[in-house]
Amino acid sequence: MCGIIGICVINPRELKLGEAIYKGLLRLEYRGYDSAGLGIINHEGLIIVKGKGKLHELEAKYGFTKLHGITGVGHTRWATHGPPTDLNAHPHTDCRSIFAVVHNGIIENYYELKKQLLVKGHVFKSDTDTEVFVHLVEDFYRETGDVYVAFKKAVKLIHGTFAILMITSIDPHKIYFAKKDSPLIVGLGNGCNIVASDIPALLDYTRKIIVVRDYWVGYVTPTEVYIEDLLSEVRVEPETYVRIVEWSIEDASREGYPHFMLKEILEQPRALSQTLSGLRSDSTIKELMRAILEADNLFITAAGTSYHASEFFAYTVMKLARRSIVPFIASEYELYENIAGENDVLIAVSQSGETIDVLKAVRAFRRKGARIIAVSNVIDSAIPRESDLSVYTRAGPEIGVAATKTFLTQTLVLSWIACELALASGSIDLSEYREIISDLEKSHVLADEAIKGSSRKILGLVDRLLPARSMYYLSRDIGLPIAREGALKVKEIAYVHAEAYPAGESKHGPIALVEQGFPVVFIVPPDSGIEQKILGNIEEMKARGAFTIGVVHEGSSLNNVVEFPLEVPRAHWITTPITHTPPLQLLAYHLAVKKGHDPDKPRNLAKTVTVE
Ligand code: G6P
Repeated sequence: MCGIIGICVINPRELKLGEAIYKGLLRLEYRGYDSAGLGIINHEGLIIVKGKGKLHELEAKYGFTKLHGITGVGHTRWATHGPPTDLNAHPHTDCRSIFAVVHNGIIENYYELKKQLLVKGHVFKSDTDTEVFVHLVEDFYRETGDVYVAFKKAVKLIHGTFAILMITSIDPHKIYFAKKDSPLIVGLGNGCNIVASDIPALLDYTRKIIVVRDYWVGYVTPTEVYIEDLLSEVRVEPETYVRIVEWSIEDASREGYPHFMLKEILEQPRALSQTLSGLRSDSTIKELMRAILEADNLFITAAGTSYHASEFFAYTVMKLARRSIVPFIASEYELYENIAGENDVLIAVSQSGETIDVLKAVRAFRRKGARIIAVSNVIDSAIPRESDLSVYTRAGPEIGVAATKTFLTQTLVLSWIACELALASGSIDLSEYREIISDLEKSHVLADEAIKGSSRKILGLVDRLLPARSMYYLSRDIGLPIAREGALKVKEIAYVHAEAYPAGESKHGPIALVEQGFPVVFIVPPDSGIEQKILGNIEEMKARGAFTIGVVHEGSSLNNVVEFPLEVPRAHWITTPITHTPPLQLLAYHLAVKKGHDPDKPRNLAKTVTVE
């Protein structure tokens, strides 16, 4: 994981480098936050300031923003090799502190390389895999006397995943970069150029970007971008790849909200209406519908919250389009690629478009000849780039580590596809199709009502849940993925153990834990058949003393059965993620805040997981 950034400027008086890198790192902090550091080149040479801790703590300790210079790199870490310590924080330097490197990814063959470098007399200061890279450059520079040649030689030797930035006091105006699998974006600024892990880190300076492709290597100066393909050594024309991003700086700012997560929960209606307008004009939907209809087998894969959206899609496809589909967790792809074939379709869902497990699943299915359809929030990210067809959610940048608005927009896009599929395959008629689409078209209004209707009540609920150490989230049928998402949210940010179960299955084990006051949250979709069955499960839990909470639609008799009802608007069952998820997000958010946790930076988690 980790976030990296590099900035080079023409006039260091106009753009204060330390401040600019620190600001960029704050926007990348969602990628990792156990330690951070800066490397800056100024008239004194190469200066490194780094340590263990969150960015604002390190700023108070070291004053990152007071550093001045012309070229610099920064890093915010999510530890893989070596615990979070001052020495393991990036940037890493060579024996003579001439080169400084920041890295996102894993150098898999670091151990063998380190052994060889130790024999040659290199002295290592950290336990990281990254440090071998900078010693390799040092070694090759000694041999060739050319920084760029040395950098390329080092890149060719490493195996694994990487987005690497390097600066050196020998060539103070350049930031060298290389990329494979981990994301990297070049931003073309006015009087400066920037290279960073993600678009939000560039938005303060530019919306003109180049998405760096795998095996590209090169450098930027304040006025120039040089790129070549590492494998063919052919020069890449940067101009051909320039694109303008639609996201604004406000999208990536907290704008007075105490946390990104709250801002992102509350802006879900806007994210849904933007996604709706995108869907109405997206010609890709027709194309992907054809691909799905022609497919022998249909698979869908994702990780984390995106998997819950995928599971909801799978249930909807079975229920509405009456077609079989295999949903699977992306990290388990090796099992499923055994049954993939040429005439199959894999839908890969990923907010970031960079999750390595999803990318690996895409590549494995591709090798089997399957067609790939990507659903992502980040245009031109790795997964859409490696897919045959892509459809985008238009949620804007999501900074909070726990996904919120992207889940609702994913389910909207996927439900739209499921509905089109049901019509095309003849399992619903035109009037049912119109009825469903008309409710999907109201998604933004439904989400708004669900948020407004539950916000106040949830504050009262949170007080009652404070002592809870464990919770269940129960539902049935299409409500189950929403129960799983509710449980995930509360685990991720409030650190409460929460399990989601099919309500009927709760009798086969989970109910043994229920005693007086044990909280059980029921998600009740607006479908009378499911509702009736859930009624029985609520009674079973109440009979054992459980504290029953229900996310129930307006007009349901179950509102009077659960002890603590959270009422949401009633619409077609396909909109259940839109109506029933916001109260669960708000519950997790307020519980986390009341317990004194930072919901934007949950411990041990990172937003984009780029290691397997
Ligand atoms: C991480 C994040 C989750 C996210 C998951 C999948 O675990 O913390 O919030 O749902 O990755 O991410 P993706 O970008 O592929 O949707």
